[in-house]
Amino acid sequence: MATFPDPHGLDGLPDRVSVYEVGARDGLQAESAVVATATKIEFIQRLERAGLRAIEATSFVSPSWVPQLADAADVLTGLERHPGVRYPVLVPNLRGLERAVAAGAEEIAVFVSATEAFARANLASTLDEAVRTAAGVVQQAGAAGLGVRGYVSMCFGDPWEGRVDAAVPAGVAARLVELGCRTVSLGDTIGVATPGHVHAVLHAVRDQGVGLDRVALHFHDTYGQALANVLAGLQAGVTEFDSSAGGLGGCPYAKSATGNLATEDLVWMLHGLGIATGVDLDLLLRTSVWMADQLGRPAPSRVVAALGRPQGL
Ligand code: HMG
Ligand code: MG
Repeated sequence: MATFPDPHGLDGLPDRVSVYEVGARDGLQAESAVVATATKIEFIQRLERAGLRAIEATSFVSPSWVPQLADAADVLTGLERHPGVRYPVLVPNLRGLERAVAAGAEEIAVFVSATEAFARANLASTLDEAVRTAAGVVQQAGAAGLGVRGYVSMCFGDPWEGRVDAAVPAGVAARLVELGCRTVSLGDTIGVATPGHVHAVLHAVRDQGVGLDRVALHFHDTYGQALANVLAGLQAGVTEFDSSAGGLGGCPYAKSATGNLATEDLVWMLHGLGIATGVDLDLLLRTSVWMADQLGRPAPSRVVAALGRPQGL
């Protein structure tokens, strides 16, 4: 029997892509059920066994805002960490950085919005204040030797403000790079991007002097465009993509956001293009189905639907 996907490359695409797994953070923060700490830890270790090398583990945000991740310190200290695997954590402010450092974080991610409305809904601040807060966090994290990623959300549209000019997320991304973020992830938080729009935003980012080797793309599959958008990103020269196992997630402060792009759907396409990811699709599929079982519902990804339930999770 043939093994699928049967790889066929396309000219001009990279040989290898980094998959940045966000299920344990972006996925579980949006679940109404609070998942047990031990289950979160097992999820992360399974992802690691499936070959993921950057696994966002949790977030040190206010527990009154995101009670689902109130056990952040226990998750991070409970993990068995291995060399060559990164376990970044999301941090909103200096209080979060303090907590993350106390729990042994080696890498953090700060997050700002491209729009005023989402800065208010997600961080209770103006965009300027959010960037200033992020600046303080990036500066202190850098001084402490931590790696820092920056997220810009609502880069392609916002549920309150509507269309977002490409120059706006590009300007915020450039600011985050200038502050010291190693990588900036451009988020399509509500999943409204289409491929030409991805090119336009990446073009604007390059115009601000940010090389695409510093850019990651973070798509949600609300309108079924996430993989088309990944292909547009690959063609433009991006080599890092965020996704969540089983397509878990949405965003608690943007009600129209549905799941993140599923990691197995992303890996299926990348392997089909002959692009190496280091991920074992079979182990990843088992992990996504296992996690969906813990949540008591099926994983919404296409690959899970197509391949069905594996024997022995
Ligand atoms: P605030 O209410 O203005 O904060 O929220 P505050 O400074 O007034 O503090 C309120 C309480 O929270 C205080 O406690 C603080 O100590 C505490 P109290 O005195 O009432 O007992 N507090 C904290 N506790 C623990 N850790 C902390 C922390 N900070 C304050 N770090 C705040 C401001 C930033 C805290 C809040 O808005 C917050 O936590 N927001 C985060 C919400 C969130 O996690 N959203 C999802 C992020 S995902 C995203 O943005 C999109 C992304 O996934 C990409 C994409 O999908 O596109 C990245
Ligand atoms: Mg997301």
